[in-house]
Amino acid sequence: MLALVLLAVVAAAAAQNDTTPPRPPAPRHEQFRVIYEWNAIDFEWASPEDREAYLNTSRYIPQNVLISGINFYGENLFLTMPRMLDGVPATLATIPVHQSNTAPKLQPFPSWSDNAVGNCSALQFVQNVEIDKNGIMWILDNGRVGTLTQNPDPKCPPSIVLIDLKSGTNVMERIPFPANTLNSNTTYLNDLVVDNRDGDYAYITDNSAVDPGIIVFRRSDKKSWKLRDMKSMTSVPDATVFRVNGTTVNLPVNIDGIALGPQYLTEDEQVDRKVYYCPLSSYHLYAINASVLRNESLAQQGEGALRPYVVDLGTKASQTDGMKMDSNGTLYFGLIGNSIIAEWNSSVDFHVGQRTIARDPNYIQWVDRFTFDDQGNTYVVINRLYNFVKNQVSVNEVNYRILKSHTGSKSYVFGEDVTPPSTPQQGAAAAPTVGMSLVLLALAHLLA
Ligand SMILES: *[C@@H]1O[C@H](CO)[C@@H](O)[C@H](O)[C@H]1NC(C)=O
Ligand SMILES: *[C@@H]1O[C@H](CO)[C@@H](O)[C@H](O)[C@H]1NC(C)=O
Ligand SMILES: *[C@@H]1O[C@H](CO)[C@@H](O)[C@H](O)[C@H]1NC(C)=O
Ligand SMILES: *[C@@H]1O[C@H](CO)[C@@H](O)[C@H](O)[C@H]1NC(C)=O
Ligand SMILES: *[C@@H]1O[C@H](CO)[C@@H](O)[C@H](O)[C@H]1NC(C)=O
Ligand SMILES: *[C@@H]1O[C@H](CO)[C@@H](O)[C@H](O)[C@H]1NC(C)=O
Ligand SMILES: *[C@@H]1O[C@H](CO)[C@@H](O)[C@H](O)[C@H]1NC(C)=O
Ligand SMILES: *[C@@H]1O[C@H](CO)[C@@H](O)[C@H](O)[C@H]1NC(C)=O
Ligand SMILES: *[C@@H]1O[C@H](CO)[C@@H](O)[C@H](O)[C@H]1NC(C)=O
Repeated sequence: MLALVLLAVVAAAAAQNDTTPPRPPAPRHEQFRVIYEWNAIDFEWASPEDREAYLNTSRYIPQNVLISGINFYGENLFLTMPRMLDGVPATLATIPVHQSNTAPKLQPFPSWSDNAVGNCSALQFVQNVEIDKNGIMWILDNGRVGTLTQNPDPKCPPSIVLIDLKSGTNVMERIPFPANTLNSNTTYLNDLVVDNRDGDYAYITDNSAVDPGIIVFRRSDKKSWKLRDMKSMTSVPDATVFRVNGTTVNLPVNIDGIALGPQYLTEDEQVDRKVYYCPLSSYHLYAINASVLRNESLAQQGEGALRPYVVDLGTKASQTDGMKMDSNGTLYFGLIGNSIIAEWNSSVDFHVGQRTIARDPNYIQWVDRFTFDDQGNTYVVINRLYNFVKNQVSVNEVNYRILKSHTGSKSYVFGEDVTPPSTPQQGAAAAPTVGMSLVLLALAHLLA
């Protein structure tokens, strides 16, 4: 049994670049602790023979199984294992949120057969899922497997798969994206946020190497469209080099992390919210109003249609993979090259509002994704992705960790529902403040 390891919480600024503004001390947080760690990911098999048969036929190659995404529901954490290489027996699985084993075996979710490669009723390639406030799991299934091999194989159409977790039956509803929205050879459904308003929307990052963008999917009528902005959604050459734990990789990766801000009332009394995003290979964080993404007519217009609506919030000290916002508008994100977990209160200017909440070069080796549970805890997946893409994973050392800290946060999906004042309901009291400060922030940016 492995001992739990405490991580130092560093309040000091952690800038590598001189250009990064100095940061005042971080607010007090419980330290991040390692709750789970694995050298290699293993599963709950139907039988030992099953495991052996998978190993014999290279359907299970332990060093090829990387955990990437994380989510929480009920008593479980959900983990994703994108099939970037061969030998990944399941692409979505669960572990109990509380257990004494520090390297638990993963239970394929919903089942083994629902993870069968080549069966288009089953899950093929899942990088991230989201669970909304109604207990609906939204699964991004890219359909194409072997994305890091010589021959990526588009087994099935890229799809959204929905599971109503409340029902307990875990029936999957698969909704393929139409071929005129997405090219199954090149699309890469990476991450999503869910906006439970006006018919339930998902805003999805497509970090396709040739056609990056944000895909909007509306659940009520299953319609989808894709919006593009080359400047803010494409990797930039001066940010493609990552140095972590003595390893250097060059990865030009487009729009990747995405987060959703609290609802607020606009000046003309409409409900809106901010969508935050960044390319993996960039130092900038961008924001756009959700109402703009929901405007389908912008998808029909060409490159440049989105440009007037994109706000560049400023730079970070390093690149960021996944990020997640809580219900109060605090963004959690990693700074990969600095081995840092950081936060930002989004009602403060991004230039001065970023805070380091944990820094540790031995334990924070590539922050991939975050989630929150229902007890105020924040969880982080650390996965040494730089080793994985360089094909230098050694199963003799720890490659994957889940860290946990009590931050008092809950997911943005449980944020307050704001109601326009014309309807006779209360509950919008806090919203104008946020709206106001965002306007100030936009002004600050213009004047910068
Ligand atoms: C796996 O391969 C070994 C060696 O070839 C063989 O002895 C064993 O029976 C195989 N197991 C299964 C379950 O196929
Ligand atoms: C394909 O997967 C679905 C869902 O798990 C399952 O019901 C079905 O039996 C599978 N089909 C085959 C041919 O295995
Ligand atoms: C995907 O690639 C295959 C093989 O190159 C090609 O036959 C097919 O037309 C492509 N599909 C699309 C949507 O581009
Ligand atoms: C890489 O990290 C491991 C611990 O995870 C540490 O033992 C080792 O010294 C580090 N190597 C370098 C070059 O930083
Ligand atoms: C959608 O965008 C178009 C410009 O392409 C604009 O004319 C229209 O007013 C917008 N619709 C809404 C509801 O904002
Ligand atoms: C986004 O919404 C805010 C608040 O309604 C508004 O002030 C701002 O002009 C909008 N930004 C853009 C770029 O459309
Ligand atoms: C860090 O420095 C490099 C090289 O000087 C520069 O291109 C990059 O924009 C800087 N990043 C930040 C966050 O300022
Ligand atoms: C974020 O900043 C605003 C404005 O300074 C403040 O009112 C709010 O309490 C802060 N939120 C958190 C969670 O600290
Ligand atoms: C979020 O806001 C609520 C209501 O203002 C407050 O009770 C709670 O402590 C805040 N949580 C955090 C993490 O700041």
